[in-house]
Amino acid sequence: MATQFVTMRVFINLHRSGMNERKILVTSALPYANGSIHLGHLVEYIQTDIWVRFQKMRGHTVYYVCADDTHGTPIMLRAEKEGITPESLIARVHQEHLKDFTGFHIQFDNYYSTHSAETRFFSEDIYHKLKNAGLISVRAIEQLYDPVKNMFLPDRFVKGECPKCGAKDQYGDSCEVCGAAYAPTELKNPYSSVSGAKPIQKSSEHYFFNLSDPRCADFLRRWTREFDHLQPEAANKMREWLGEAGENKLSDWDISRDAPYFGFEIPDAPGKYFYVWLDAPIGYMGSFKKFCEQKRIDFDQFWQKNATTELYHFIGKDILYFHALFWPAMLENSGYRTPTKIFAHGFLTVNGEKMSKSRGTFITAESYLQQQLNPEWLRYYYAAKLNSTMEDIDLNLDDFIARVNSDLIGKFVNIASRCAGFITKRFDGKLVAGAQYQQLRATIDEHFANWRPELIEKAFEEREYAGAIRQIMKFADEANEMIHQLAPWEMAKKPNQEEELHRACSLGIQLFYLLSCYLKPVIPGTVEKIEQFLNTQSLAWPVLTESQSVSHLLLPAGHAINAYQHLMTRIDAKQIDALISANQQSLLANDKANDIKQNNQSAQAQQNIAPIAETITIDDFGKIDLRVARIAHAEQVAGAEKLLKLTLDIGSEQRTVFAGIKSAYDPEQLKGRLTVMVANLAPRQMKFGLSEGMVLAAGGSNPGELFILSPDSGAQPGMRIK
Ligand code: MSP
Ligand code: ZN
Repeated sequence: MATQFVTMRVFINLHRSGMNERKILVTSALPYANGSIHLGHLVEYIQTDIWVRFQKMRGHTVYYVCADDTHGTPIMLRAEKEGITPESLIARVHQEHLKDFTGFHIQFDNYYSTHSAETRFFSEDIYHKLKNAGLISVRAIEQLYDPVKNMFLPDRFVKGECPKCGAKDQYGDSCEVCGAAYAPTELKNPYSSVSGAKPIQKSSEHYFFNLSDPRCADFLRRWTREFDHLQPEAANKMREWLGEAGENKLSDWDISRDAPYFGFEIPDAPGKYFYVWLDAPIGYMGSFKKFCEQKRIDFDQFWQKNATTELYHFIGKDILYFHALFWPAMLENSGYRTPTKIFAHGFLTVNGEKMSKSRGTFITAESYLQQQLNPEWLRYYYAAKLNSTMEDIDLNLDDFIARVNSDLIGKFVNIASRCAGFITKRFDGKLVAGAQYQQLRATIDEHFANWRPELIEKAFEEREYAGAIRQIMKFADEANEMIHQLAPWEMAKKPNQEEELHRACSLGIQLFYLLSCYLKPVIPGTVEKIEQFLNTQSLAWPVLTESQSVSHLLLPAGHAINAYQHLMTRIDAKQIDALISANQQSLLANDKANDIKQNNQSAQAQQNIAPIAETITIDDFGKIDLRVARIAHAEQVAGAEKLLKLTLDIGSEQRTVFAGIKSAYDPEQLKGRLTVMVANLAPRQMKFGLSEGMVLAAGGSNPGELFILSPDSGAQPGMRIK
């Protein structure tokens, strides 16, 4: 068994000596205050939280801060739409976010808001310092302006036809159909998604951070190359963005927005506000400052130039540009320290696809908790999949069920549930002591002679969680195999195997204890229950010195444990089905309220859009035979309230159809028109005659809101619609 492990033994023990205690400040990206936390976000917060908990367990001084990202146009408009102030919107969302995070055991030292005195202070401070360094310039730019709403329109609030492929209803920055990127002024037939008005071009003065200044570009080139601040893939991206020395690929960064805007007004520039992305990362400092004041911690030790403390930002790959270019350049040129490292992760897919509202895989943190799913299942699954790269990670729901049930329940929790009962019932709750204990130690040392626990530590340190979990589960397999061989349940049946039984069960509990230590950063809630069950203090990270063997890590001889209490249930596939359908329902219903991006109709009309029906396959669709039909004749039906009698020409034949469109159409209007019919619908006997098909019409929720379809000109009766 033991041969599975590599034989070399080198134990790291940096920190217990005291001299090497690290001081670390960690952040996760600040979630926007206009949306709910979903399982995609949680990839990041869980990844960060595991790392922070791991470092804290090792005895390092670690602070983990975050905040809501509260400024910008979307938040302003969302508040307006809800009829509340932005301040009350962000206060409400703050509570919601914090509740979600707490529910997933994400433990911030401070969770703050960018709309704070501290963040304002540092925003102004950094701005002044950049200005004094000659790195701020002002110039007029032309932008699209909504003449009805009286505001400049961010790119995402302008829609129109793609200048490249002509696709309709595309955003002002890029086309979702052909992928082209462009300026909003290039859109054809643009409209404001706020008011529906046609935007006009208007000039306004903007403030710029002069990123093209050689001081910035040269610094960033150096910073990218030195000290592994970035993962290799991220550093490559940076080189692409920066180009070679002298190439000057960076443009100045527009850091101001005109009123109306929810944000910080720029000092000495009335009506101009800091762009949300200027103050967002400064929110890291603001949140930490607030924490330092409460806890009397030296802020400067973490932020002054040449600080020897460590600073890490966990982010998603989509916001690398802001964190790897703008942020270090801002800090460097305003006299602050720059980040030690930036850790970018990939995006979450569910069952191999982008999260989707209609498929119900756009799962909110809140719904997951509401459906009574255990947050630690997800923490474990993410850990089992995460590594240090920017690759996307997939939540495959079948695999999720299988993996959690087999690893956490089958391999981990089962060790305790199989061994604890005997200890409680037969041995007064006490693990073996004396000579028995020495014998147990010898067994463990022999079996795990070649085991290298420091590799688990190394893997966590390097954010190779999948690797760490693989090794922990290998250890669990080994432990299960030992218990299986010993079969304490058989020993218990025999009269004179008390000692063996005691030793076997103590061995199980001891190995379970060790596994719990290693899993604690990942499943801290369960391990808290385990600490109570094992009657231990808060579990610390197990560390061996070079001369020690594995058995030095065990609980002491004769240690008393408490009775086993239920630790974790299995996932039932039905729970996942319920989760998916809950999200399908609620998100579709909420869409209109949440999504400010969408269309130019009134808010009233948006409320009435029916949810999209269940997904069908192309084969399902292919079963419907839709034909272009000419309305040869149309007439009233005596005695019918809603129906008109239509004679439809579909080229090969004529059909009679009774259509419920009387409230919207006069028969005379319809004669000669082309429309679309379902030609293979089973004929239906109605009160007034046989109806041989159906005419297609769009309907709103109000009576009389009815619009029959017509094909484009040129279509001929009988043509099939595919
Ligand atoms: N407010 C900005 C960050 C400002 S940091 C100074 C923002 N907010 S966000 O709410 O859109 O995203 C917050 C974090 O969650 C980002 O790091 C983002 O990459 C991450 N994720 C959001 N959706 C994600 C997935 N679907 N998958 C993985 N991470 C994702 O960006
Ligand atoms: Zn296009």
